[in-house]
Amino acid sequence: MVYRMILNQTAYFGRGAIKEIPGAAKSRGFKKAFVVTDPTLADPAVGTAQKVLDVLDAAGLPYEVFTNVKPNPPVECIQDGVEKFKASGADFLIGLGGGSPQDTCKGIGIVVANPEFADVLSLEGVADTKNPSVPIFGVPTTAGTASETTINYVITDTPRKRKFVAVDPHDIPVVAFVDPDLTDGMPRGLKVATGLDALTHAIEGFVTPGAWSLSDCLSLQSIRMTAHNLAKSVAGDVAAGEQMAYSSYITGMAYSNVGLGLVHGMAHPLGGRLGAAHGVANGILLAPVMEYNKDYTGEKYRDIADAFGVADAYSGDIETVREEAVQAVHKLTVDLGNPTKISEVGATEADLKPLAHDAFHDVCTPGNPRPATEEDILQIYTSLM
Ligand SMILES: NC(=O)c1ccc[n+]([C@@H]2O[C@H](COP(=O)([O-])OP(=O)(O)OC[C@H]3O[C@@H](n4cnc5c(N)ncnc54)[C@H](O)[C@@H]3O)[C@@H](O)[C@H]2O)c1
Ligand SMILES: [Fe+2]
Repeated sequence: MVYRMILNQTAYFGRGAIKEIPGAAKSRGFKKAFVVTDPTLADPAVGTAQKVLDVLDAAGLPYEVFTNVKPNPPVECIQDGVEKFKASGADFLIGLGGGSPQDTCKGIGIVVANPEFADVLSLEGVADTKNPSVPIFGVPTTAGTASETTINYVITDTPRKRKFVAVDPHDIPVVAFVDPDLTDGMPRGLKVATGLDALTHAIEGFVTPGAWSLSDCLSLQSIRMTAHNLAKSVAGDVAAGEQMAYSSYITGMAYSNVGLGLVHGMAHPLGGRLGAAHGVANGILLAPVMEYNKDYTGEKYRDIADAFGVADAYSGDIETVREEAVQAVHKLTVDLGNPTKISEVGATEADLKPLAHDAFHDVCTPGNPRPATEEDILQIYTSLM
């Protein structure tokens, strides 16, 4: 067995990390940035994008800002960004935001460097791109997707109401800047959703069959950090929020390389068909899918249970401990106020079969430790109505 790890060239962490952007650009000979962000972050009343633009201004580094990004980003935003990038004279990209701007940024960078994929749809799955993306600096403003360190991006095919994942080592940002000053300002609901996304990455990356000792270090550390810090961060503890920013990145290094599983496979159709926020969808599905998977996870739920403070995690019988791990995750989801039913994000009986069809074909689903049939998936969705 050969394991592969693809990581950023360089990453900066900590309050003030964004001040490293001009130096990192200069040392690579970059002259002008194309900053991909979204209308909320660019809103002066929110002020998040401005923090980065102030750093660029102070260093005299030219830039152009692109804000045509939507949540669950569609193909059209990438195509618009490609045209605007070409007209801008910029030579590198800054993906500034949550997963949506960062993923849009990756799509732009890949298509500019590989124009034969201008339709974007042909990038689904593992596309055979020939050239690395236009260089990307990844700057997260949420603590969840870890797009700044992953080789994935997730795009919505609006006419077909489906989200698809593109997996391409050519899209990894060359430099990441994980600055908790940018994530502090997340509203409560966004902290919940993105934190549950990070927890899902860590748990799915931990139990997927491709996991190994190095990815386990990262996944398990992230599970522990999220178990200890997510609720505190949501309650307004700034130090805990900083830990969540790092936890997201730490699990990103792992799951990007080993894959995910059925939670993501089933969450993507909830986003594509119903517009559900990605982290909210993961939060609904995580405990039920853990329950579904539990007999296929060896001793690993002991570590998850221990991370959540279950006293007999390493001494209790495995059946009991597995159930305790599932219940600990379920309790966190409920305590945080995340929905627990797919009907709460708009699913109706008529949606169930199309959702199950899309989930069965999602690129994340084969990473699940328990091989799932379309009928199994339908049953899980149905149980969550
Ligand atoms: N590339 C990957 O590896 C990867 C992994 C998981 C998920 N995703 C994708 O990422 C997307 C979700 O990203 P997300 O959950 O980070 O949310 P998002 O980028 O969709 O943002 C959601 C909302 O939060 C706002 N927001 C973001 N940061 C903020 C801040 N600091 N303060 C105030 N408002 C802020 C945004 O403006 C937006 O309105 C989905 O499309 C999902 O499928 C990608
Ligand atoms: Fe995710």
